[in-house]
Amino acid sequence: MGSAPRTSTKLIPPYGGELVDIRVTGEARDELIRRANSLPAVQLSARSVCDLELLATGAFSPLDRFMEERDYLRVLEEMRLADGTPFPIPITLPVMLPEGVRIGAEIALRSPGNMLLGVMRVDDVFEWDATLEARSVYGTTDARHPLVAEMTSWARWNVSGPLRVAQLPKHYDFPELRKTPAEVRAVLDALGYANVVAFQTRNPIHRAHEELTKRAAAGVGGALLIQPAVGLTKPGDVDHYTRTRTYKVLIERYYDRSRTILSLLPLAMRMAGPREAVWHAIIRRNFGANHFIVGRDHASPGKDSTGRPFYGPYDAQELLGKFEQEIGVKVIPFRELVYLPDEDRYEERDHVGAATRTFSLSGTRVRAEYLGNGKQLPAWFTRPETAVILSKIAPPMHQRGFCVWFTGLSGAGKSTIAEILAVFLMERGRQVTLLDGDIVRTLLSKGLGFGREDRDMNIRRIGFVASEIVRHHGAVICAAVSPYRSTRNEVRAMTGGDRFVEVFVDTPLEICEQRDTKGMYRRARQGELRGLTGVDDPYEAPVNPELRLTTTDCTAEANAHRIVRYLVDRGFLLDPADSRNYT
Ligand code: ADX
Repeated sequence: MGSAPRTSTKLIPPYGGELVDIRVTGEARDELIRRANSLPAVQLSARSVCDLELLATGAFSPLDRFMEERDYLRVLEEMRLADGTPFPIPITLPVMLPEGVRIGAEIALRSPGNMLLGVMRVDDVFEWDATLEARSVYGTTDARHPLVAEMTSWARWNVSGPLRVAQLPKHYDFPELRKTPAEVRAVLDALGYANVVAFQTRNPIHRAHEELTKRAAAGVGGALLIQPAVGLTKPGDVDHYTRTRTYKVLIERYYDRSRTILSLLPLAMRMAGPREAVWHAIIRRNFGANHFIVGRDHASPGKDSTGRPFYGPYDAQELLGKFEQEIGVKVIPFRELVYLPDEDRYEERDHVGAATRTFSLSGTRVRAEYLGNGKQLPAWFTRPETAVILSKIAPPMHQRGFCVWFTGLSGAGKSTIAEILAVFLMERGRQVTLLDGDIVRTLLSKGLGFGREDRDMNIRRIGFVASEIVRHHGAVICAAVSPYRSTRNEVRAMTGGDRFVEVFVDTPLEICEQRDTKGMYRRARQGELRGLTGVDDPYEAPVNPELRLTTTDCTAEANAHRIVRYLVDRGFLLDPADSRNYT
């Protein structure tokens, strides 16, 4: 497989080792694309696309293809390729081959969006065993492990063979930070340090991490390669757009620019703990590093279904220690770092006396108490720039979006109350969109009729727009008859459920008919209009609406006040007297 040297007995210097490059360029590339268009194609998962990009640019060197069976089995058993080279994580392509594709045939590999990536000659197709892979690589079959859970949906056959890549997946975000291993090596070379320390992360860099990266670089007198994973990380992580904005400002303001490089790695993490740490180190060697930081709980999948951690907090350091000579990357281990408030500095917990005060914040508390609440993290924990960016991921409850959905018969009074409510909300400083059924039907739902199918489509369209508004933290008021319970529940689910307030305007049919504001009941009774809800079309009253309003004993204005009170009680709006109105 390839001609790159596979073993090295002593620590390689930075920027060393040959890199695999299976990209095709120039005329050969044009020819490859032309040929690929007439080949049977397979569509790759987002994970496989990440793997392919790193294979193509040599980040997995000396691996130059998705693994064939003999490599795969030895990786599972011994963390080595068939020829003995350390490689702890299986890089496989589980796909359903198109009908009629045999060994020796070529297939086109395409992205989920159908972009051509490359061409593979199918040399090996083998069945794999999810339980065996789960046990060997992840040390568990517990489905709480995100990869163990994910693997059950992969195709049962892995496909391998020589690969030529015509185009890398396109990244339009932060292009200046996306460099191949060869490009990063060149930048490191220009910095001119004898040592390079790499740091992996899938989280924002807080002060503890800043401390350990700086200590590591200073300790070996080297350059620092900060290389966050931005492919697939653990479900629930802070998105990479937000993270990268924090990394950029941190590097700019708090690091020594003459020895620090920020580079984004399109890595699809496996959360394999110790094995993953060894893999991370191999990848960073290929990018030119010869030292790699491993702290506490490296690439940790969290806790299993019995509440126990899948791996020990320092297992990753230990395993990488066994491979460091062979792969040419020395581990820089760190114990847990804690903050000493009386000295305003960070220290490893083991070096702190029992009498010394320490502060620390768990990831769970960071998420629940701060990030999920729009609350700024304290300055001892993270730099203010990072705190501000992270506080915007989720605004506080009273600044988030919500949907007030009116339902009721025609003429019940929905639109009147809705209009007053809109004014009340704007008076309180909220941005409001009012989607009134009659108005919606003049544009968004123009052309739809009043049969069940068209009525449902009308409601779904309103629901879709409402859900987008809620997602962008706006207030949306919808007022449409919306006669069917199941469709109303559908739109409730579309907006995420807990930000949906169903208001049943419960005006009896006789009263609506007496009012007959639009003259529709008269026309329906005279047979000029068909399918009027309540007359000759069903209305399914809500079973458990958040609010039920009556209009015979209460004015529209008083009803709008009732809704405002309800929104304040739920925390969707602040009480006018609340001091947070002015902060
Ligand atoms: S990881 O999945 O990429 O490993 P994370 O971004 O949380 O997760 O960690 C990045 C690196 O920092 C890992 O090497 C991890 O062990 C280390 N690390 C994270 N938090 C601490 C801490 N409080 N003390 C010591 N090391 C830490």
